[in-house]
Amino acid sequence: MKRIFSGAQPTGNIHLGNYLGALRNWVELQREYESLFCIVNLHAITLPQDPQALAQKTRDLARLYLASGIDPQVSIIYVQSDVSEHAELAWILNCVTRISELERMTQFKDKAGKQREGVGAGLLNYPVLMASDILLFQTDLVPIGQDQKQHLELTRDLALRFNRDYGETFRVPDAFIPQAGAKVLSLSDPAKKMSKSDADANGSINLMDDADAVRRKFKRAVTDSGTAITFDETRPAITNLLTIYQILTGQTTLEVEQHFAGKGYAALKSEVADATIDFLRPLQERVRGYGDEELDRILAGGSERARHIARATLDDVMQRLGLDGTRRPNRARE
Ligand code: AMP
Ligand code: TRP
Repeated sequence: MKRIFSGAQPTGNIHLGNYLGALRNWVELQREYESLFCIVNLHAITLPQDPQALAQKTRDLARLYLASGIDPQVSIIYVQSDVSEHAELAWILNCVTRISELERMTQFKDKAGKQREGVGAGLLNYPVLMASDILLFQTDLVPIGQDQKQHLELTRDLALRFNRDYGETFRVPDAFIPQAGAKVLSLSDPAKKMSKSDADANGSINLMDDADAVRRKFKRAVTDSGTAITFDETRPAITNLLTIYQILTGQTTLEVEQHFAGKGYAALKSEVADATIDFLRPLQERVRGYGDEELDRILAGGSERARHIARATLDDVMQRLGLDGTRRPNRARE
């Protein structure tokens, strides 16, 4: 069975873009692939985090994975820092990565902004940790939103380079980027993606937003000039609203366009809000349904299974590099 791996950071508020671009597809794919879904808290600390809030958000995100339909009987759900192999492989891959490759990453450039030399080195090395996540599990397919495509290309380059220099070690993964929903745009500035780090709270629909907040945000959503309600790349704001509506109601683009033919923007906004509220209500109920004990059990079981797979890859990598692990006390255990 082929394998998929994906993850999201336990920072900010998980929003509709995260769901439509990533989570939704994980749920679909878990039946066809052996699946690992990670809460990548080591990625989160590339920017300063409040420790208590980080711990809380890590658990909240695990609940959201489960509530979205990731089945712990089928898929492996775990927290990145519980499996130390991630950090170990990241160090090794840092040694085969060039600084120039990392400085080219658009996400690094965006996040570092003007103070390129002053930010933490973790922000620069972030994609190497992501590559380690993926390569540790001999992953075939990585379901992600559009914004992670460049990181996946780097992952492939690192795998190919390592395989060339040290012998066939890593499977070279492919990206899975959905046709619809790969880039959900900010409601208040359709030139930008919906983002956890957006200072403007009106730009994103958070998965835990209540009905009033959802209605208010869609009502204020920026629109394009004109009146037509059709999928049209040159009119990103309306297309964004239509895409959200289309995915949440499970209709085709044609059906959606027919549905809104002759209607105005106010009707569009109010119907997208209704569809979103109908989708979020049961999701939020399921989130609240997972108790602490159950969550602990699922995460502990997940990290155990993940570690088992990761260890095999890391042992192989270390041997190939001449970092013979035979003196490691826990080696025999796995
Ligand atoms: P992050 O919020 O960075 O942890 O992202 C988790 C997943 O959501 C990744 O696969 C991202 O590519 C995806 N994602 C984040 N923002 C968006 C967006 N605005 N539209 C679609 N996918 C997104
Ligand atoms: N960098 C991804 C993001 O911010 C999260 C992530 C970390 C990830 N490791 C991963 C996604 C491995 C897919 C596979 O969205």
